[in-house]
Amino acid sequence: MSLSNPTNALQHPRRVERLVAGQATSDGAGVKLIRVLTQDLQRRLDPFLMLDAFGSDRPGDYIAGFPSHPHRGFETITYMIAGRMRHRDSAGNEGLLDDGAVQWMTAGRGVIHSEMPEQEDGVMEGFQLWLNLAGVDKMQAPGYRDIPSAQIPEQRGDGVTVRVIAGSSHGVAGAVQRPRTEPVYLDLHLAPGARFEQPLPAGHNAFVYVYRGALSVGETSVPAQRMAILANDASSDGVSLQAGAAPTRALLIAGAPLREPIAQHGPFVMNTREQLIQAVEDFQAGKLA
Ligand code: CO
Repeated sequence: MSLSNPTNALQHPRRVERLVAGQATSDGAGVKLIRVLTQDLQRRLDPFLMLDAFGSDRPGDYIAGFPSHPHRGFETITYMIAGRMRHRDSAGNEGLLDDGAVQWMTAGRGVIHSEMPEQEDGVMEGFQLWLNLAGVDKMQAPGYRDIPSAQIPEQRGDGVTVRVIAGSSHGVAGAVQRPRTEPVYLDLHLAPGARFEQPLPAGHNAFVYVYRGALSVGETSVPAQRMAILANDASSDGVSLQAGAAPTRALLIAGAPLREPIAQHGPFVMNTREQLIQAVEDFQAGKLA
């Protein structure tokens, strides 16, 4: 089957509003990464708060991992392209994330977790996305799901493989569905020149991050290690991508904006400053464990 919908093609595909290179930084105990979605883009890309890309074959760049730290008020989604990382949290969950697997953690009212490499050499590559929770959901009980690679639905056709992590694509329901933010999270593997279309509601905020090769969205070329923020023109009905001359891999991420105040202090994301102070106090009092 075709994943470019020739009989039901998009009438008004989105254009690229802006290309973003991200910022090299380190986090955890010194893991080198590129912060692709930075804090200044939280409003524009609501309900997404952060996207980090990590990828290195130098153990010194990742071996220190992310020792015990808290979260409250949102969800963290870790997608491992290559490597092994072990998760442990204060709710008693433990899981090993390896090639192609996803960990979907709902911090809710609070969790303390660690994410530590379980390899001493080789490549570690992947992404962590932060997805906000609506104010009414921020204090829900924490949740955790490991999704092994084999349980991520895939759709194939015309030089395109789509891994449907969340939402749905061409009739295939993803591993995770969420009300309210309705996230779509696709990992696209495109052969040279392959085309892919995804219908998206015009009001949903959306972006593409290319992590191998290059692709074009309309007139705009998007090289590797760039995020393309897709415009929200009222008439737009989706996005159409075409790979360049090399095999290309990209994330397509979209969701319904919450349109609520965003207050962030490190690993806590709430609606107000008072709620942040409460989060810090609760953490210090041991109430997140
Ligand atoms: Co964390």
